[in-house]
Amino acid sequence: MSAYTVVDHEYDVVVVGAGGAGLRATFGMVQQGFKTACITKVFPTRSHTVAAQGGIAASLGNIGEDNWQWHMYDTVKGSDWLGDQDAIEYMCREAVPAIRELEHAGVPFSRTPEGKIYQRPFGGHMRDFGAAPVQRACAAADRTGHAILHTLYSQSLKYKAEFFIEYFGIDLIMDESGCRGVIAIDMATGTIHRFKAQMTVLATGGYGRSYFSCTSAHTCTGDGNAMAMRAGLPTQDMEFVQFHPTGIYGAGVLITEGSRGEGGYLTNSEGERFMERYAPTAKDLASRDVVSRSMTMEIREGRGVGPEKDHIFLHLEHLGADVLHKRLPGITESAKVFAGVDATKAPIPVLPTVHYNMGGVPTNYMGEVIKPTAANPDATIPGLMAIGENACVSVHGANRLGANSLLDLVVFGRAAALRCRDILKKGEKQKPLAKDSADFALSRLDRIRNANGDTPTSVIRKNMQRTMQTDAAVFRTSKTLKEGIAKIAQIAPTLSNLKIADRSLVFNTDLVEALELENLMACALATIHGAEARHESRGAHAHEDFPNRDDENCLKHTVAYVDDKWNVKLDYRPVHKYTLTNEIEYIKPKARVY
Ligand code: FUM
Repeated sequence: MSAYTVVDHEYDVVVVGAGGAGLRATFGMVQQGFKTACITKVFPTRSHTVAAQGGIAASLGNIGEDNWQWHMYDTVKGSDWLGDQDAIEYMCREAVPAIRELEHAGVPFSRTPEGKIYQRPFGGHMRDFGAAPVQRACAAADRTGHAILHTLYSQSLKYKAEFFIEYFGIDLIMDESGCRGVIAIDMATGTIHRFKAQMTVLATGGYGRSYFSCTSAHTCTGDGNAMAMRAGLPTQDMEFVQFHPTGIYGAGVLITEGSRGEGGYLTNSEGERFMERYAPTAKDLASRDVVSRSMTMEIREGRGVGPEKDHIFLHLEHLGADVLHKRLPGITESAKVFAGVDATKAPIPVLPTVHYNMGGVPTNYMGEVIKPTAANPDATIPGLMAIGENACVSVHGANRLGANSLLDLVVFGRAAALRCRDILKKGEKQKPLAKDSADFALSRLDRIRNANGDTPTSVIRKNMQRTMQTDAAVFRTSKTLKEGIAKIAQIAPTLSNLKIADRSLVFNTDLVEALELENLMACALATIHGAEARHESRGAHAHEDFPNRDDENCLKHTVAYVDDKWNVKLDYRPVHKYTLTNEIEYIKPKARVY
């Protein structure tokens, strides 16, 4: 691979990705004095976290009594009991100090009249172990992710983190001792960079773009998941894909659940507030899997709205212009721009839309990547961490509660830095890398850059996205999943017939999109195979041939390996059904009561 010049770098820590998780980790690492690089394919404040709207969950109890045990109970229940309870306990306990740290770092949260952080109700967040909704989502109007991202980027700069912006991570550097760093391309110049580090932290976000309609940015292409899978590591629980109930019909743009937290509600073609039937206690604030399935049932049974009866109305007009402009300015604007609706006067047309990947690279609650062995299902890979939507800790299990995503980002970004404090030495001399350490990444880059087939990236991508949208949807059946697997098995190999028109190295978006597509394809395969093999319904995985949760046979994490011929191998590892302390007893699976 001598055709490419490789620029070498050495750091204590390299973080790949600059969303909420990547920036919180970067900030934590530099605060402790680690020489830290953060490489990111977009400018940090353009990362997808900027789109997070409604809030970040923490039991501050600013507006009504709350505690971390109730938060933990809701999260375990919301996960449909697939979440790891040690990690969930850690997240819910650490939520409170993590939010205080964000506040002190300068996040401009909205305030109560007494000056406390404003908190709004959010789906599935309840008090007294499910008795009634609680106000737990700390909000900066409906631009909470934006506020957090800007603060974390400023703080990282203040502590002298080094940013490599518009650098695309190609592949991990692995050797017999574990992970040794990452190879990236500087998209502006086409130069190749080899980052050697004691610790590599994957924080590249989710892979929503493997579906046709999603709330995720175009940059959410599962880069970290695919890097891990190409390194022979697994992804976990990829079959659990969250549909957000309120994507704008036709555009997919997010309308925050915070809008229902502020009093918004859904209606069908008969003007009925149908969530009262499906979830009599939580109603429109039931967890997302429940609301998305209920909306889909209404549409299927002919009670959808619009000429095609294929969507649902979200009403905010009764809240009044003052509340909308003060608490929900962003979505009021989105409704205008993307649906042509003045939300102060008319309902917004909405539809469940792919929003979040519960699955990702398996880790423990300290961020360390797990590769299970026969002897140890929790065995870790030295030198590698994963955090945020890239990871599967697993705090969300089969279904994530709203406002627990921003929380996951900051709690586990912080946890990764705390773990590095305990296991790394600042500036420790690292052994040299093998001479061919860049070859794996470069041969892939070179193959794609010179691909001379006849199918453009956009065609293969659309085939994959349409298949996922149709065959691995809100409701799945064995038939649709089997058909989807057969279709993807035909589509993935067409990547070897890829047509790349631009052979240059300078800002070659043709090349980068193709690299991203390979990443998405690996994620799509892990998702649909995992879904087909899970013969139950749990959380976001609603399997019509197996409508019940099956704890006896299926209370386990799926681990998926995808090889370079697009073959998928599935395995399983146990769910952590134990807590970290005895301050909350083990929460046992119960009947579904919403
Ligand atoms: O609805 C929302 O504001 C999304 C929040 C989340 O996914 O956590």
